Amino acid sequence: MIELRELTKRYGEKTAVDGLTFSVRPGVVTGFLGPNGAGKSTTMRLMIGLDSPTHGDVRIDGEHYDRMREPLHSIGALLEAKGVHGGRTAYNHLLCMAQSNGIPERRVGEVLEMVGLQDVARKRPKGFSLGMGQRLGIAGALLGDPRILMFDEPVNGLDPEGIHWIRTLMQHLAREGRTVFVSSHLMSEMAQTAQHLIVIGQGRLLADTSMNQFIAENSRTYVRLRTPEPERARDVLLEAGHRPVTAEDGSLEVEGARAATLGELAAERRLVLHELSEQRASLEEAFMRLTAGSVEYHAHDLPEGSAGGPGEAASGEPGEAASGEPGAAGAPAPAWGENWRKGQGR
Ligand SMILES: Nc1ncnc2c1ncn2[C@@H]1O[C@H](COP(=O)(O)OP(=O)(O)O)[C@@H](O)[C@H]1O
Ligand SMILES: [Mg+2]
Repeated sequence: MIELRELTKRYGEKTAVDGLTFSVRPGVVTGFLGPNGAGKSTTMRLMIGLDSPTHGDVRIDGEHYDRMREPLHSIGALLEAKGVHGGRTAYNHLLCMAQSNGIPERRVGEVLEMVGLQDVARKRPKGFSLGMGQRLGIAGALLGDPRILMFDEPVNGLDPEGIHWIRTLMQHLAREGRTVFVSSHLMSEMAQTAQHLIVIGQGRLLADTSMNQFIAENSRTYVRLRTPEPERARDVLLEAGHRPVTAEDGSLEVEGARAATLGELAAERRLVLHELSEQRASLEEAFMRLTAGSVEYHAHDLPEGSAGGPGEAASGEPGEAASGEPGAAGAPAPAWGENWRKGQGR
């Protein structure tokens, strides 16, 4: 169990983590979700004593990280992907970690096998692909057979096979009764991995809920109508007290109504329909709505489904972030996607 109490971290004027209080429980994968810059990495660094809080504290199974004698037995962490030094072989890198934590050498071979790196054990990580680097980082996290595991954006930049592997591993570790805490800036990724969700924005807690509850509470449902007479359809709907919105593709979307009601209304008014369907907004959209108020800079009234949404960011290359100064006076606000990509891979 990880327990945060009023955890706060300021860097000068910037409050990166702002009074976070929550617990991460064993037996399930807990997703730690927030747009880039929300404070996820900072929170994770605070958890393992790589940074010290300005206020509040974190306990790992009741203890502070820096008072633990052999912390790798309690908590294993994969932080930034680039954290591995290229000089030592993969085997020696893990051996050094093991020796300084009183872990027997045979465990090095075991974890290399668990992550599928046994064949490159004697190679230097310098030449490793991003996916292999992630696997080595995960091997390090597993070394002490810890009850608690923490992964910071572990799937960033990985291919689908690597993503699937990490997801399966995390679920397996949770089923073994461990505490698994994993961050992401993509809701779609979390939806497939986590059973519990902690959502933050600008360092503040926005939600602490089960995935199922989050889905139930945040999914916007609406009815889509497609008709060759959109003008008249709008009028008919408005007259009946509905509030249709025209989508980019010309279809009409009506929130807060059932398809059956609208179908009957259309029949009554002899309105030709080519489509009448109940829709559920994507989780990514629910996440965007939840964090919208907490994102520092974003364009307003971006039409639905337009380019630059978070879905696109999923395939975006880290490092292609917009370099414009979003806060500069007079400068146009960057689109959602740019903001989303800003600092991806941090
Ligand atoms: N060492 C630091 N010095 C100054 N500002 C920092 C430092 N680390 C993080 N920040 C700022 O704190 C905020 C949260 O960053 P971070 O924890 O990396 O967010 P996330 O991991 O959710 O993308 C950002 O605005 C970032 O620029
Ligand atoms: Mg981060």
